[in-house]
Order: sequence, then C-alpha cells, then structure tokens
Amino acid sequence: MISTSTTTPISTYQLVPFLMAPNFHSHSLLLLPLLLCLPSHTTASARCPALIVFGDSTVDAGNNNQIRTLLKSNFPPYGRDLPERRPTGRFCNGRLATDFISEALGLPPLVPAYLDLDYTIADFVKGVSFASAGTGLDNATSDVLNVIPLWKEVEYFKEYQARLRRHVGETQAQHIVSEAVYMVSIGTNDFLENYYILVTGRHRQFTVGGFQDFLLDRAAEFLTAIYRLGARKVAFVGLAPIGCLPLERTANLLKGGRCIDEYNKAARGFNVKLQALIQRLNAKLPELRLRYAPVYDGLLRIIQSPSSYGIENVKRGCCASGRFEMSYLCAKWSPFNNACPDADKYVFWDSFHPTEKINRLIAEQTLNSSLSEMM
Ligand SMILES: *[C@@H]1O[C@H](CO)[C@@H](O)[C@H](O)[C@H]1NC(C)=O
Ligand SMILES: *[C@@H]1O[C@H](CO)[C@@H](O)[C@H](O)[C@H]1NC(C)=O
Repeated sequence: MISTSTTTPISTYQLVPFLMAPNFHSHSLLLLPLLLCLPSHTTASARCPALIVFGDSTVDAGNNNQIRTLLKSNFPPYGRDLPERRPTGRFCNGRLATDFISEALGLPPLVPAYLDLDYTIADFVKGVSFASAGTGLDNATSDVLNVIPLWKEVEYFKEYQARLRRHVGETQAQHIVSEAVYMVSIGTNDFLENYYILVTGRHRQFTVGGFQDFLLDRAAEFLTAIYRLGARKVAFVGLAPIGCLPLERTANLLKGGRCIDEYNKAARGFNVKLQALIQRLNAKLPELRLRYAPVYDGLLRIIQSPSSYGIENVKRGCCASGRFEMSYLCAKWSPFNNACPDADKYVFWDSFHPTEKINRLIAEQTLNSSLSEMM
C-alpha cells in the first residue's frame, strides 16, 4: 500500500460545494453519503464495502502500466503531488475523482488498479479499478491505442469475483458485490480518439446522433452485464465539455483556440440520451439503482469563471506547453517538459486530463448528487 500521510483527506470541513463560491461551506449537503458510509458505524460500513470502477483514463489507476500501449503515465511529472511523488499510472498530478470518493465512503484513499502488481486480492476487497486509459464504449476505440476494451474489463470483473470468493468466502463475496458502489466513467475517447479523428471509419458509418445511439446501446449491454454479475448501485458519469480540452482548443487554433462547439454539442446530446437510458434500465432491472453523475455544467462553470475557484489557466495543461502533450510527451525527460509550478492554478494537468484539484471538485459533486441518492 502507498502511504497516505501527506494526502489531504476530504473532511466535511473541507468539502467545497462544487457549483458554489469557493468559500461557501455547506456541511449538510455532503454529510449524507459520508454518514451513511462512515467506517466507524458497523451497519454503515456494511452498506458500502467497496468501490468498483470501470472506464478510461479519467479513472485508470495504473492498469495501462501492465499492457503494451503508448498511452501511459507511470513516470514523472505524473503523480508529483501524490505521497512520495509517486507516478502510479494515474493521468494526473495527484488523485482521481474515484480516489476522493473512495476515501469519503470510508474506504482507502487510493483505489488500486486491478493489474497493479503491488496489490493483491486482500486490497481489492475494498475496491478496485478495471479502467484503462484510451478505452471506450465502442470496441473500435480501444483498438486505436491498443488498450483494454470494455468487454475485457468485464472479464476482469468476473475473474475478480472468483478470486474474491476464494479470499473471503461465498457469502461475504456476494455481499461485497451486491453492496459495493460502482462508478463508470467512459465515452470521451469514443468521440475524440475515434469518431472525430476519422481513423476507424465510424464517421462514415454514423451521423453524430447515430453514433451516440450506437454508444448508448453498448453502454446498455455493459450495464446489463455488470447487473447480471451482481452490481446494483451504479453511478455513470456523463461527458464533460470535451470540446474545451486543451488538445481540442489546439486543434481549433485557427478559430483563436476556442472550445470546439460541435464536440460540446455532441457531449450534451450524449448526456441527454444517457439519462433517458438510465431511466429505462432502472425501470427494467429490479433493484438496480443506476444514477447519472453530471460533470458537464460544473466543469464548464469553472472554465467560464476560473477566478472564483482560484484558477488562472483554463486553456492549457500544466505539463509542458500545455497545448498538445500527454503521456510520454509530458515525461520529465521529454524535450517538451516544463511543468507549471502549481497545478492548483490549472483546470487541466495535461492536454486531456484535469488536475487533482478539479478531480476533487468532481468527486464532491458526485457525492452530493448521484451517490447520496443511491445510498
Ligand atoms: C447538492 O445537492 C443539493 C440537493 O440536490 C442541491 O440543492 C445543491 O445545489 C447541490 N450542491 C452542489 C454543490 O452540488
Ligand atoms: C466487442 O468485442 C467483443 C469481444 O470480441 C464481442 O463479444 C462484442 O460482441 C463486440 N461488440 C460489438 C458491438 O461488436
């Protein structure tokens, strides 16, 4: 386990409501999920024994370290604000939203990656991430950068359950699987690494609307699969304003580096349809508590009024030039390296991924909304 002595835990005193002025402390809003899952209450701890994560780089805690892909981040300056400045394979200077959520649920402060050799099933009892940077809902997306497809994440989940049964016994394993909180964060790469960069041909096969429907059919298959495997409390994260990622602004330099409206519109359309799908699945699958976790408006608000969050730069990532670098191009030994001194002044850590500060805000909002409804 990684020492957590230097991390700042989310306490109720520090929870800054995401969409409000940064100095406005509202304890009651976020106390609900915390109380329901406080580890000191035996009944409460039983209510959320684990946090189980599926998705892409927004929630990959290091699975890509173990596979043959160029999309990695297990080298400095990634992880420089983690304890021991350890680059774990998280695409961030520090912790991910799921790490903050885990801690707030009374679980460990870092959700371990399933393929990380430093962890065993004993650690995964309280949570695990099957996520892989670069993956998507569409099988074609994971092929682009040779990462773990979503169906394979589900295979790992099955394997995990078998290991869990051997480790804690049938009854306890069943309890963990049915009471765990599940977080799913995926979909950005289907648009930005697949549809809009034209490598897979999906843009010829589908209109944007048709592609959204195709992706949501895949999401429905995935959600039904994990439901059949026992998942009940599931939060599905909506898409962010993906046209405002620094890499997309760079692609839009001819128009002054503004956000790409077309991409943001595709994300909003996807989110509307996702919410309808979530309603349908909740009606169809007994005992499912599937919730939508919105991030679009909150993130856009920060991008539009950064100073109220103490943020100075919304257009570029903190690492290197901030315009296009991520993964190896951000590496300490890369010719581009020149990371900013204080990532808290940035929305984005690299050209594609938010800083720890933003991940913390996303976690707080998710705890307040979808997760508090689910408990
Ligand atoms: C938290 O949830 C409450 C009730 O749904 C809502 O009124 C409030 O605006 C939310 N606050 C944040 C920061 O998300
Ligand atoms: C994606 O790939 C998996 C594994 O090969 C396959 O089972 C699944 O049907 C594929 N999905 C689609 C929509 O083609």
